[in-house]
Amino acid sequence: MLEVKQLTAGYGRTQVLWEMDLTVGKNEIVALVGPNGAGKSTLLRAITGMIPVRSGSVTFDGQVIQGQSIEEIVTRGIAHVPEGRRLFPGLTVRENLQLGAWRTRDTNIDHVVELFPRLGERLDQVAGSMSGGEQQQCAIARGLMSKPTLIIIDELSLGLAPVVVDEIIQRLPGIAESGTSILMVDQDVDAALTIASTAYVLEAGHLVLSGKAADLLADPRVQESYLGVG
Ligand SMILES: Nc1ncnc2c1ncn2[C@@H]1O[C@H](COP(=O)(O)OP(=O)(O)O)[C@@H](O)[C@H]1O
Ligand SMILES: [Mg+2]
Repeated sequence: MLEVKQLTAGYGRTQVLWEMDLTVGKNEIVALVGPNGAGKSTLLRAITGMIPVRSGSVTFDGQVIQGQSIEEIVTRGIAHVPEGRRLFPGLTVRENLQLGAWRTRDTNIDHVVELFPRLGERLDQVAGSMSGGEQQQCAIARGLMSKPTLIIIDELSLGLAPVVVDEIIQRLPGIAESGTSILMVDQDVDAALTIASTAYVLEAGHLVLSGKAADLLADPRVQESYLGVG
């Protein structure tokens, strides 16, 4: 479905990513993990057209998408929930959700409220006054409003209490099964590898490990570097 091949990208004259290969299949949850500054957000930005792809290719549903505008890429069915959520803090939850529907113009919010019932209780509250976890739910729900076939979530659990993270993470398999594949970046490597089927480990702009998430979770290198084991 999403296929990244030998992608390189960076900012100005600085190259940040080298020869990235990554695939996300239909109904799949894929995790991208690695230390701060490894290039995870940069890879997500290159996929969604926020920064140019220098070489290599990005295809989605068999179509080359690199070089297209962010709007074109969203229209093809990819939603991006950026790090920091980027909600409109002064707008209500309902307004934030409805803004997510600019692609489909279908502003019915029932399907996302069903997924995140807590949002349903707060539709008239301004987004900026909610807790971090509620804001993250709102940001994911806004991304889902465009009925994407792939949602990309950067730093899913950053700054959130573990119990809130669990609440969000447990929704992900249902989202994937209902037709929206997920590519997620998370500092909480344990949670990410537990929920994902496939995972990639990125260090200093290079992919150093990839495979079944369960295998990576059991890999001594991952346990030592990311899970505080050993
Ligand atoms: N807008 C930017 N302009 C220039 N360099 C950037 C920018 N954003 C990130 N970088 C650099 O790119 C590298 C990778 O950053 P990033 O993709 O944010 O890593 P991660 O998301 O894995 O923490 C870092 O060295 C960072 O300083
Ligand atoms: Mg980042």
